[in-house]
Amino acid sequence: MRTTAAVVEKQGADFALTEVDLDALRADEVLVRMVATGLCHTDIHLKGFLPEEMFPNVFGHEGAGVVEAVGPDVTGIEVGDQVVLSFRSCRACAECTAGHVGYCEQSLLLNYMGMRMDGSTTYSREGAPVFGSFFGQSSLSAHAIAYADNCVVVDRSVDLTKVAPYGCGFQTGAGTVFNVLDPEPEDSLVVYGVGAVGLAALAAARHLGVRTLVAVDPMASRREAAARYGAIGVDPTTETVVDRVKELTGGGASYGIDTTAISDVVKQAQQSLRARGTLVALGLGAEEYAVDAIDLLQTGKVIRSSVEGDSDPQQMVPRLIELNQAGEFDVDPLVTTYPVAEINQAVADVLAGKVVKPVLLW
Ligand SMILES: NC(=O)c1ccc[n+]([C@@H]2O[C@H](COP(=O)([O-])OP(=O)(O)OC[C@H]3O[C@@H](n4cnc5c(N)ncnc54)[C@H](O)[C@@H]3O)[C@@H](O)[C@H]2O)c1
Ligand SMILES: [Zn+2]
Ligand SMILES: [Zn+2]
Repeated sequence: MRTTAAVVEKQGADFALTEVDLDALRADEVLVRMVATGLCHTDIHLKGFLPEEMFPNVFGHEGAGVVEAVGPDVTGIEVGDQVVLSFRSCRACAECTAGHVGYCEQSLLLNYMGMRMDGSTTYSREGAPVFGSFFGQSSLSAHAIAYADNCVVVDRSVDLTKVAPYGCGFQTGAGTVFNVLDPEPEDSLVVYGVGAVGLAALAAARHLGVRTLVAVDPMASRREAAARYGAIGVDPTTETVVDRVKELTGGGASYGIDTTAISDVVKQAQQSLRARGTLVALGLGAEEYAVDAIDLLQTGKVIRSSVEGDSDPQQMVPRLIELNQAGEFDVDPLVTTYPVAEINQAVADVLAGKVVKPVLLW
């Protein structure tokens, strides 16, 4: 079938709305008519980073829409269902069966290769491949192909324009707090880089009653957004981060989360922890991080990463929706909607800190 996608023609190019052909549905596939697609920093980073031979490419991994067709092998999803799309996992390997679907042994093949497992692409143009299958969805498209494992069915009353980002950015921040750190109220959490991921982490920590929350970000608009969750702002351009964080946390933070992927920031985050504190480095883009080895040796600190906040989207997405409906995890104000024709403006606005989470409407 014909559909319209936001195609990136070559590395670093803007998005361009273009007619593409969507391949016939396979037995294990789900056809989704998109209602809304969130933009995550990962889309913006990878469209400037993937090798030239992976273009033209359709990104988008925070899709939300309505199921239009299901292949005969798909169970649990019906035509007309509302779905939030997330990342793929095989649900059969050792990591998946142990519940750690973010660390699926097939993750690279299922989420990042630009094609199906058999090498075919779901999108094409005049017979030539257009790479897609990003997170098993490539949902910056009016219609996209997804799978039972990455379609989370949500109630038809749920506003898809609000929950599209639950599939990646919001799930990652919240999951890092709920699954990885699980802080107590007397703990302190410092988030370095409070975009969509960092703010979702703060919203989750506030729900858990964590009393000391700190947001380090050079953008005043982002520190203001963090204040909504009770976080004290620190401006790294005018304050000495390690000293200030230690002061605010009574000697050092129990927990840190980095979303900047800036090596110096990760090092400051490590140095700002108390002994036995844990830092989770979530950002994408750095090749290496500098570790303060002397500090590490003396303190038993943990520096680790997390894929999607160690979440299983089939559990985390409904959990976050339930919390949100109960008046907790209040991330709705972080969303700004744009008609999809304004996608490049949305990119410019999020990079400038004018908005936190752009959601494109189809
Ligand atoms: N690990 C995962 O599974 C996962 C999932 C989603 C996103 N990500 C990654 O997480 C990161 C954050 O994504 P996002 O959508 O929230 O991005 P974003 O661009 O909205 O947020 C990044 C924030 O970092 C701030 N920043 C820049 N320099 C800083 C500095 N020196 N000190 C402190 N803050 C600084 C920016 O002002 C911005 O507010 C990206 O790298 C993205 O690719 C990872
Ligand atoms: Zn697996
Ligand atoms: Zn993402």
